[in-house]
Amino acid sequence: MKEHIAIIGGTGLSRLDALEVERQQIVVTPYGEPSAPLTFGQFDGVPIVFLPRHGEAHTIPPHLVNYQANLWALHSVGIREVVSVASVGGITLPPRALVVPDQIIDYTWGRGHTYVKCGCTPIKHVDFTHPYCEALRQRLLEAGREAGIEIADGGTYGATQGPRLETAAEICRMEQDGCDLVGMTGMPEAALARELDLCFAHLSLVVNWAAGKSEGTISMEAIKEVLDTSIDSVRRIISRL
Ligand code: HPA
Repeated sequence: MKEHIAIIGGTGLSRLDALEVERQQIVVTPYGEPSAPLTFGQFDGVPIVFLPRHGEAHTIPPHLVNYQANLWALHSVGIREVVSVASVGGITLPPRALVVPDQIIDYTWGRGHTYVKCGCTPIKHVDFTHPYCEALRQRLLEAGREAGIEIADGGTYGATQGPRLETAAEICRMEQDGCDLVGMTGMPEAALARELDLCFAHLSLVVNWAAGKSEGTISMEAIKEVLDTSIDSVRRIISRL
């Protein structure tokens, strides 16, 4: 049997239209319930498991997503590869850019960010020098090339707490830190995947200029417009993958 690859869908990708659903599975984990039942199906003939990060009705905000349960659930059904998709703000990259980042800076706090428990010996310190799985990153980039869709190779994803957007000064600081993208869900998702030894890569869709990077304020209508017109490219990349 072919192994399933998991897709964690973000804003704008709460469902995959072309997914031929075979079954849904509710997984209860020691960390509580994932954002939704896992959906098993075929996407262009490839077995995948789909999990909408913000829930099926897109009701779970970034700081309340149960990242521990999500990754644990995927791992517990035998998943070894996870592609995470999210919409982000662009600090050095413009709206509509698609990016497969290669680095992360974590500005989040108070989230369930590890599976390491008190009393576990020896205490586990996972290597996180390169936070994403390089082989899967390359396959995503290759899928983009095959689909004729330009994807930026590399960039630093700055994970903020949300749900509010950032101030212009925060974005200025993040740019000085070396961030190219800003999003609210990239961490602790990637670190938890690493703790579980999952091969994990991320595809970002830039839906707005980050705060202070364009005239005026950030409008949800403009974000929606970018999402509506660009999310199809994300679907095509996943389909190629
Ligand atoms: N900041 C943080 N997260 C985001 C943004 C942003 O500007 N746009 C989409 N997700």
